[in-house]
Amino acid sequence: MPRPTFLRRAPSPSQERLRDDYLDLLKRSLCDLLAPQTLSAVPQPDGSVVPTPLADDERERRETGSDWPYNGTTMVGLRRLESVQACIALLARDGVPGDVIETGVWRGGTSIFMRAALDAYGLADREVWLADSFEGLPPPKPDRFPQDVRQEQWSNLHEFGFLAVSQEQVRRAFERHGLLDERVRFVEGWFDDTLPKLRGTRSWALLRLDGDMYESTIVALESLYDDLAVGGFVIVDDYGAIPQCRQAVEDFRAARAIDDEITQVDWTGAWWRRSR
Ligand SMILES: C[S@@+](CC[C@H](N)C(=O)[O-])C[C@H]1O[C@@H](n2cnc3c(N)ncnc32)[C@H](O)[C@@H]1O
Repeated sequence: MPRPTFLRRAPSPSQERLRDDYLDLLKRSLCDLLAPQTLSAVPQPDGSVVPTPLADDERERRETGSDWPYNGTTMVGLRRLESVQACIALLARDGVPGDVIETGVWRGGTSIFMRAALDAYGLADREVWLADSFEGLPPPKPDRFPQDVRQEQWSNLHEFGFLAVSQEQVRRAFERHGLLDERVRFVEGWFDDTLPKLRGTRSWALLRLDGDMYESTIVALESLYDDLAVGGFVIVDDYGAIPQCRQAVEDFRAARAIDDEITQVDWTGAWWRRSR
């Protein structure tokens, strides 16, 4: 049985340095920034991608997660991984109860990072939940979610085979990092089938929403927010980049009269902390 956070001895400065070095290396590896050359997957109108070397003077795009890495394990970039780390550090400091979940995992890199960071901050009793179809995004449903087709941009993500990654591939990625165990929980299927079933089953400390669409964002918020602990975080990956996603956040917050301040991480990622 792990010791409760408040009974654990604070890490020494050298332990903190080792922890930070480990997590920094992991972040750069997950973003495919350790090799001398890295490839971008450049999206084409027909739903394919073209592997293209990322020029040296463009490598900072991987910091802000503004390209699709052809070989990387996450597309969110260093800034958003750093922000996840900062949130987990605060959960540990403040003893916020609950597990963490990512809705929309792709190759699993951010979930792998959350699993590593939980251990590194002494939260080894928490589970990491990964919800995904593991076959890409659903086509928009104009009848139920017209917001997903109101603008042409971002409404064809379901056509990209590059965004479809099987559960087996994600498990193998966890294994390669030595981080696959019974604390990693997979929820396979479309969010509107799977996420409502999680309602009331556990307490969450952190929700990381990365499903791009209005539907995927609103369904996650409606299914998971009520079980988010006070002091827990909602992280929204596409808040700045995808108007449909931002609309879902705004609609949900307005419906629930949530006025907790939204902090922007980079050009698209944002989070708020539940205060009540
Ligand atoms: C942009 S990718 C996630 C990127 C990932 N978080 C990372 O760290 O790189 C979006 C993911 O959301 C999943 N997804 C989006 N909407 C979904 C839905 N309604 N149901 C199930 N999966 C969905 C897709 O399968 C895809 O894996």
